Amino acid sequence: MLVTLSELLKDAKEEKYAVGAFNVPNLEAIRGVIQAAEELESPVILQHAEVHENLIGLEEIGPIMLQYAKAAKVPVAVHLDHGASYEMCVKAIRLGFTSVMYDASSKEYELNLEETKEIVKIAHAAGVSVEAELGHIFTSAVGGGEGRGSDSSDDYEDLEDVYTDPDLARKFVEATGVDCLAIGFGTVHGIYLKEPKLDLNRILQIKEKIDVPFVMHGGSGVSEENYRTAIKNGICKINYYTYMNKAAGKAVQECLENNTEDAVFFDELSLKATAAMKDNVKAAMEIFMKP
Ligand code: 13P
Repeated sequence: MLVTLSELLKDAKEEKYAVGAFNVPNLEAIRGVIQAAEELESPVILQHAEVHENLIGLEEIGPIMLQYAKAAKVPVAVHLDHGASYEMCVKAIRLGFTSVMYDASSKEYELNLEETKEIVKIAHAAGVSVEAELGHIFTSAVGGGEGRGSDSSDDYEDLEDVYTDPDLARKFVEATGVDCLAIGFGTVHGIYLKEPKLDLNRILQIKEKIDVPFVMHGGSGVSEENYRTAIKNGICKINYYTYMNKAAGKAVQECLENNTEDAVFFDELSLKATAAMKDNVKAAMEIFMKP
């Protein structure tokens, strides 16, 4: 059933678990994620990232995501991930998405605050929740998403500059009225090319200042221990994509390598990819979900 993000995150925050938020730019991903959530009887978030517009447009995939969410046996929120423009957020709201992320984190703090405030006003009037980002989440040189560019952590010397500042986070949340906040503490979008330098204590420091649900971006590829500590410290939503996408690619590759027939049929590859994403997502959700 289709539910709001606020509803899902309220329970996650009270019960100290996290809801997985999976990017689904194709039907295989949507089906894999829904099958995993239903098998585990866990709530889940389906999300479409603006950087995936090159793979499929919001207006094409959005109604399909909503259809699967409504038909699911578990609570599902449908979310816009990294909305970069006012227009994109409004489009998602009009389609019936239950939440939007407006990401102006690369802009000056004041501009991020003013623009986010504006989106919150519109979204809340439509009963839609808003996620914003403060600080910076790196993008790996591999698999970080078409159009996102790479700024892997090797490029940074002073990480203090990019991790979310706790006092600023309080001011930002209070001024904008966002429902949840994506925070920077060292995670990376895409493949982890080296061990991430996670500042998991920072989540606690931010929580001491402002008690809203926090979002981990670059969630796939993080160790089980780090997931558990991050959740204990206040992460309630974990954005996850690259490693489920990689698992699907590997399954297709193995299928092709093992093929002894004269022809390769795409429907078989599609089913293998769906099953691989389901298994990968399930393993992650088993760590995130309420015990
Ligand atoms: P990964 O693809 O690195 O798991 O990150 C997903 C994400 O943060 C989407 O916003």
